[in-house]
Amino acid sequence: MTTFIVMLGPPGVGKGTQAKILSEKTGLAHISSGDLFRENLKNETELGKLAQTYMTKGELVPDDVTVAMIKDRLTRPDCQAGAVLDGFPRTPAQAQALDVMLKDFNGQVDVVPFITAGEDVLIERLGGRWTCRVNGAHVFNEKTNPPKVPGKCDFDGAELYQRDDDKPETVKNRIKVYFEQTSPLISYYRERGKLVEVDGTQPIDRVTNDLMGALKK
Ligand code: AP5
Repeated sequence: MTTFIVMLGPPGVGKGTQAKILSEKTGLAHISSGDLFRENLKNETELGKLAQTYMTKGELVPDDVTVAMIKDRLTRPDCQAGAVLDGFPRTPAQAQALDVMLKDFNGQVDVVPFITAGEDVLIERLGGRWTCRVNGAHVFNEKTNPPKVPGKCDFDGAELYQRDDDKPETVKNRIKVYFEQTSPLISYYRERGKLVEVDGTQPIDRVTNDLMGALKK
């Protein structure tokens, strides 16, 4: 049976941090739309160049481009049992496209953890975030989740960097875009009985416990 989990919540709330942990605990693939765009950017593909024009402003990449990228990613063998989707869908059109494409996998969205925190917490977390150059799923925070050696990834020793779109002005726009374009998904999934709200202001392990509890139900 396939299982698809959609991580929902504002920028910086901890979707990526928790998606990585859930993927390890459940064995499901971790698919981060932001990491896929950044990988394309690093490899200087046309998709990466296009995505960058939106990402640097904190705007969303157009739906058709994003949906095609995810559809392609879902065909890889590691998605046979399902996936933890982190950062996708992000608009009602993307959510509808996901429902259609999951039919090809005899699957559906099973549960949508909606992680919450106030804007001040998000801004502070993103300002202190450090990401691994080699694997974007390895994420740290200088205050709340520091690496063992400053500037180095705990998992592979690679250099840590601060994302361009974590600059304060871009963060403000990302949060605005979230409220305008992504927050309608809260009612989309609530109406379908999939939404489980989790308090994202708790320490990382407590958020994980709540998420695992929600998955067991
Ligand atoms: P994306 O990379 O998806 O960014 P995002 O959604 O803004 O999410 P973030 O990665 O910023 O935050 P997060 O919630 O994963 O938090 P994290 O775990 O890192 O998207 C980037 C851009 O790509 C978009 O702006 C858009 O342009 C484009 N894009 C992507 N998907 C798209 C789509 N579907 N459609 C169109 N465009 C798309 O945690 C943040 C920090 O907090 C870290 O430092 C972490 O260590 C720390 N932390 C985490 N949890 C806790 C905790 N419980 N307590 C204390 N600290 C914590």
